[in-house]
Amino acid sequence: MLVSAEHDPRRTGTIWALNLDEPSALITPRMPVTFGRCGSESAALLSEVMGCITPEAIIQRFEAGRQCYIAWAGNDLAAYAWVSFDEEFVSEFNLRIRLLPGEAYIWDCLTFPGFREHRLYSGLLAYVASQLREQELCRVWICTDGENVPSQRGIARAGFSHVADLIVSRVLAMRFVYVQGQPEIPDSLISETRRVFLDNRDNVWLSALSGVHG
Ligand SMILES: CC(C)(COP(=O)(O)OP(=O)(O)OC[C@H]1O[C@@H](n2cnc3c(N)ncnc32)[C@H](O)[C@@H]1OP(=O)(O)O)[C@@H](O)C(=O)NCCC(=O)NCCS
Repeated sequence: MLVSAEHDPRRTGTIWALNLDEPSALITPRMPVTFGRCGSESAALLSEVMGCITPEAIIQRFEAGRQCYIAWAGNDLAAYAWVSFDEEFVSEFNLRIRLLPGEAYIWDCLTFPGFREHRLYSGLLAYVASQLREQELCRVWICTDGENVPSQRGIARAGFSHVADLIVSRVLAMRFVYVQGQPEIPDSLISETRRVFLDNRDNVWLSALSGVHG
């Protein structure tokens, strides 16, 4: 089905993947930093620095099997990134993604303003990839807004490939969502992208207010 341009505005996400049988990018942050993984013992700290999320909600993330990776600059928490397995709700696009065993999805990443442009984000993503490889995962996904140039550059530097775009068109009270593969990416990987982001469908219609159903 075609959706005419008159139904815009459109929102575009960029979808990236990294096969973990490929070596990680080597990234040297431009400031002294220590990467690591934290757990529910850090819920209060994470709640304080992330804002708008309670320690209880952070603990729920950990109890649901999500992992949190952080960058320490001295005593300061400078950057963080969350990783999900199984499934995750992508709030920016109102989509629920579904993963197979062996796959992971990186989301809710941030470098605090005073620490930006020191390659902490790209370094943390590369670190997360190395840790997921040790956990014997095989592929990691990440998605970012089409207008978020710093995020896209950091993801690319960390070794991810831009596999597809997620196109979201508003049509009256509905949203029409589809995946548009990058030309050089094999069809098999584009199909995997549709499996993860659109539950194996070519496209989905969503209420403007809700996520993917079914
Ligand atoms: C996106 C974000 C995480 C980048 O963090 P960072 O630690 O500054 O990223 P890096 O230092 O690794 O920089 C990544 C790349 O983007 C570039 N970059 C960073 N900030 C930039 C800016 N404001 N304008 C243009 N390019 C920028 C860097 O030069 C680098 O490119 P290079 O490696 O080719 O030199 C950070 O800006 C942020 O937290 N933004 C708000 C939350 C967000 O967008 N999260 C990501 C959603 S998935």
